[in-house]
Amino acid sequence: MPLFSSKLLSWYNKHKRTLPWREHRSPYAVWVSEIMLQQTRVETVIPYFKKWMKLFPSVRALASASEREVLNAWEGLGYYSRARNFHKAAKTVVENYGGKLPRDVDELRKLPGIGRYTAGALASIIYDMNEPALDGNLKRVYARLFDVKTPINSTEGEKLLWKIARENLPKGKAADFNQALMDLGAMVCLPKNPRCDVCPIARDCKARGSGVQHLRPVKMAKKRVPHNVHVAAVIVERIGNSLYVLLSQRPSNGLLAGMWEFPNARVEGEPAGDVASALRAAYRLNVRMKRGLHPLTVVEHTYSHFKVTVRAFRCEISSKAMSDNLKWIRLNDLRKYPMGKVDRAIARKLKSDGHF
Ligand code: ADE
Repeated sequence: MPLFSSKLLSWYNKHKRTLPWREHRSPYAVWVSEIMLQQTRVETVIPYFKKWMKLFPSVRALASASEREVLNAWEGLGYYSRARNFHKAAKTVVENYGGKLPRDVDELRKLPGIGRYTAGALASIIYDMNEPALDGNLKRVYARLFDVKTPINSTEGEKLLWKIARENLPKGKAADFNQALMDLGAMVCLPKNPRCDVCPIARDCKARGSGVQHLRPVKMAKKRVPHNVHVAAVIVERIGNSLYVLLSQRPSNGLLAGMWEFPNARVEGEPAGDVASALRAAYRLNVRMKRGLHPLTVVEHTYSHFKVTVRAFRCEISSKAMSDNLKWIRLNDLRKYPMGKVDRAIARKLKSDGHF
């Protein structure tokens, strides 16, 4: 076993973080945590994990939940295809594997939402199989430890790091070793200002040996992210004794798949005058703006590949025809409809404004 791994393992024994999925120790709890942690920080995940385990305490409970319940529990975590894929994978595991995650990396990778990293994490943490699990944090740690000069986000860099991770895995200790590297990346080998003074493997670190730890990992420059502007229509109507609001459900694949939103469309240039024509084109929906040009709210959000500004306007319907993906829902039921961050912010503003 490489010397650095025994030092790292004894450091982990003393300093490991107390995390709810480490206490639970059930394969399902580890699976939940690994899916949630794919693109989200530990501190954000913890409350979602706890709530999830109450709502869906087992793979069977998750498999038999409705998509709406699953997306609702995920609301706020982002990257919603993770929730939909997890739900699908839970059904497959119940139907084809008797409710148990397969003990085989290739079989794990066939499940929706399980890529190379997650398959390695599940196989090592649940079954102690000799599998590396390389996420962004581990890439940084290894790039420093072995002073890797190839960009970690290039195909070549990725290949090299997986090779390093596999070659340095201490046999029979993968569960602790992979999690030790995760904890080291989170607490010591930080992206900026790495805490080499408290690092158990500082002496083994080639980048530190050459004084270049802050220059590793090397990354290829990212493309500039586009910035899109959308207009959204907030349409509230009284039907009988109740107030209703018009929502649209997104298609079942792609960004925010299956989530609900206020009817909206992308606009070029100055948005305000374009609300009616943008919505007519997108939904065959004819609207008139209420209260002049002043938006109800303006919300900004950054997704992984673009930034969006949504300007939400109160509108009223000016003719009945509209597409079938639109639905009138009771204003009081808004909470029950899973939404992304932007639309939940609009819904909150609508509620807090009070007068309809
Ligand atoms: N990030 C992803 N999986 C993790 C785990 N099991 N422990 C800590 N951080 C993680």
